[in-house]
Amino acid sequence: DADRCESCYGAESEDIRCCNTCDDVREAYRRRGWAFKNPDTIEQCKREGFSQKMQEQKNEGCQVYGFLEVNKVAGNFHFAPGKSFQQSHVHVHDLQSFGLDNINMTHYIKHLSFGRDYPGIVNPLDGTDVTAQQASMMFQYFVKVVPTVYMKVDGEVVRTNQFSVTRHEKIANGLIGDQGLPGVFVLYDTCHPEEN
Ligand SMILES: *[C@@H]1O[C@H](CO)[C@@H](O)[C@H](O)[C@H]1NC(C)=O
Repeated sequence: DADRCESCYGAESEDIRCCNTCDDVREAYRRRGWAFKNPDTIEQCKREGFSQKMQEQKNEGCQVYGFLEVNKVAGNFHFAPGKSFQQSHVHVHDLQSFGLDNINMTHYIKHLSFGRDYPGIVNPLDGTDVTAQQASMMFQYFVKVVPTVYMKVDGEVVRTNQFSVTRHEKIANGLIGDQGLPGVFVLYDTCHPEEN
């Protein structure tokens, strides 16, 4: 029935009045800041075989690429399983539906740079190949970004950044929050020229 209006299990809002699919319910939960814990108790998800799909995909990896525009202040970006949402001003991921205890964070960083490249620039994370020795590891890359001006012989000026990095890893304890979310985290900070 195209005109049906199924329940959002209490997460209805102005924008989302009906949840006719499992994704609708997830989105409604996400906007409320609710964790999406038991897909098997949600009719729409049962109907669509959500848990089954998760099972089928559980050994798959993914390839991520793109650009981020950020302010020149400290921050982080991360690759972690689950949909993210805000809960009491904390950024969390609803990874319960993936099974908390067996996430393999093996990863390969093909390229990461902060700004344009110039001839001979060294981006120290390029080609980083890390095998997770244990399940549900949290990998952290602490990056110090150094603003750099490169002048070509023809006078063209490239304003870009170099960076240095230290890596830290630990076993995520499975709790949600910055204590232990399995994933790959890049935590960056910039050196301000006036400090030097
Ligand atoms: C994670 O996957 C990689 C690549 O398939 C494998 O070498 C590694 O042993 C796995 N780690 C765990 C903890 O299962």
